[in-house]
This record gives sequence, C-alpha cells and structure tokens, in this order.
Amino acid sequence: MKIKPVNIGTLKVEFPVMLSPMAGYTDVAFRSICRDFHCGMTYTEVITSRGIVHDSKLTWHMLDTAENEHPVAGHIYGSEPDIMAEAAAKIEALGRYDTIDVNCGCPVRKIVAKGAGAALIRDPNKIADIVADIKDAVSLPVTIKTRLGSTPEMINISEIMQAAQEAGADAIAIHARVTSKKHSGPADWDTLAQIKSESSIPVFGNGDIKTAEDVFRMIKETNVDGVLIGRAAIGNPWIFDEIYHLANDMDYKPHTLEEHKACMTEHLDRLISQNSKHPKYRKKRHGNPEQGASRHFRGHLYKYLSGFRGWNRIKRDLDAISSRDEIIKAVESVLEE
Ligand SMILES: Cc1cc2nc3c(=O)[nH]c(=O)nc-3n(C[C@H](O)[C@H](O)[C@H](O)COP(=O)(O)O)c2cc1C
Repeated sequence: MKIKPVNIGTLKVEFPVMLSPMAGYTDVAFRSICRDFHCGMTYTEVITSRGIVHDSKLTWHMLDTAENEHPVAGHIYGSEPDIMAEAAAKIEALGRYDTIDVNCGCPVRKIVAKGAGAALIRDPNKIADIVADIKDAVSLPVTIKTRLGSTPEMINISEIMQAAQEAGADAIAIHARVTSKKHSGPADWDTLAQIKSESSIPVFGNGDIKTAEDVFRMIKETNVDGVLIGRAAIGNPWIFDEIYHLANDMDYKPHTLEEHKACMTEHLDRLISQNSKHPKYRKKRHGNPEQGASRHFRGHLYKYLSGFRGWNRIKRDLDAISSRDEIIKAVESVLEE
C-alpha cells in the first residue's frame, strides 16, 4: 500500500511516517538515526517556550538539529500565547526548522500545573489563541499535537480540532488516548477516523502502532494523512525502513546482527558528539560528555537489546555502565551469545 505525501501548509512531507516527540529520547542523535532509516519527519523533544524566550543555554541546546534534518518540527509547550509566539519566531529565525508544533497533550504534572500540555485540552479557546498568535508571528506552518480528551467521559477532540483549524493550524496530530490513560490502554482508532472525516486540515494518527503492519492498518481503517510512531521506534529505528520498503513495494531484508551493532555504536557516538556541545559539561561536576551520553543511552540500550538471549544476564549491571567501551563490550557479549 502506497503512503501518499501530505502538505502541511506550504510544507510538502514526502513520506508522512514520522517520529513522535518523546522527552528523553527524541534528541538530535536519535532523530538523525531514524532519518537514516527513512523516517519522513521528526519532532524535537518538548521544549519550554519560556526557556527559549529567556535564552536559557540548556533550552537552546535542545534546539540543535542534525545536518540536513528536514523536515523537522520545533515542538514547544507553554500556556501564554504571546510567549509561545515569541519562542516560535526565535525558532523560525534559526532557519533550520520546517514547522512549529504546539504540545497540547503532555500529562506530566509540572507542565499541566502551568496550564500547558494536557491542561490545554480543557480549554480549546486557549489552543486557538496560541495557534493564532503563533501564526501571526511566523511564516512556518503551525501544527498541534493533542489527545482525544481529558478522561473517557470528557472526549472533546472534535471541538479542539475545530478550534485549531479555525485559528489557522495547518495540521493536527492526535494521540488516540485521553490524558487520564497516559500511555496505556487501547488507542481509540474509531474516534480518530471520525475526526479525520470531519477535518479539513491533515490529521496524523498516533497510538498503538507497534509494527510496520500497524501503520498500514491505521491508514486503512482511519484514512489519516500520516502517522507518528513513538515507543515502537525506540530500539528499533529500522521500523521506518521496513515501512518505507513495504510502501514502495520493495523487498525488505531485516538487518543483520552486525548492522544492529553498527547502528547502536553510531547512535552512541552521535550522542557523545551531541553532548560535547552541551553547556552543562563545561562544569566538571557534571562529568564528561561520554559519561553523560553512556548513562543516557541506557534507556535505548534496554530496547535495542531486550529480546536477545543474554540481555537478562547483563541488564542488572546496567547501572554501573558509564563509558562507551563498557557499552560496546556489553553489546558484543549479548549479540555474540
Ligand atoms: C518517554 C515518552 C516521552 C514522551 N514525550 C512526549 C513529548 O515530549 N511530547 C508529546 O507530545 N508526546 C510525548 N510522548 C507521547 C508520544 O509522542 C506518543 O504520543 C505516545 O507515546 C503514543 O504513541 P506510541 O504508542 O507510538 O508510543 C511521550 C511518550 C513517551 C513514552
């Protein structure tokens, strides 16, 4: 089954199979790895609009992009339309971003407490104000990523979609769960299909995509214009390659163990290189970029290696790992076994 290109305002996305934003995972290193495997578009981790406006060095570091990383969305959170608009304009001025995406679905308490993320679901008019102010401030396309509602009894995605659309949003990505379910329980693709049928802007589906086949099933069952893949890509960036091959009627050969190891090593090396620019490592007490990257990589390692015989043996020692060599040694011992 072919996957058609989609237009997000003035931006044409050739292959709308995208990496969903995930705090702690979708940094520039992991995004660039996914791109190597035909991921069609990436989103940054969620970034504070206030941090951008106040020129926080740590926040600006999160706006690094890989060379030629296009299209990429700057995914920001906040609750003040003027601050969000100012942050969006600063992102646009970098000249490296293709869209601005507004987080309207993050359930993390510290974000919701500020009236941002999933708190916006309860206030579609605020979403409209934010979208309208950002549209006024930038010429890049503006999108939102949201959920079906706050609780199973409070599904208001139709209202959110209408409000965003009327305010000028160029697309909407929908995680087909409610806030109270966080990331668990079945995603509701029926409601996704219903919203797609009502919407005049592109709708991207998200939730319960675990395999390449699920992507085609979601598109067939809901008619969405594109999909966002989150957890299924962690430890498996090859999922994009598989979907790309299937969508283009090409033979797909699963990767070899050697390629598995090469990808993990490359990912870790890109993380170390990304960290070498991180302002926090200018202070000795934070350790060095390699230690930081090695510790951070554990979350990915978990997913890259789970399922392999031998993983259980080393996983309990994971906390002690803090160097590139130790990681490579662990990887080799698991893959050899
Ligand atoms: C660790 C983690 C971090 C996430 N961070 C974000 C985020 O920063 N912004 C956002 O909109 N969604 C975030 N999400 C939600 C995902 O983008 C996605 O909507 C959700 O995981 C459902 O998709 P999946 O079933 O393909 O994982 C996060 C999810 C996870 C598991």
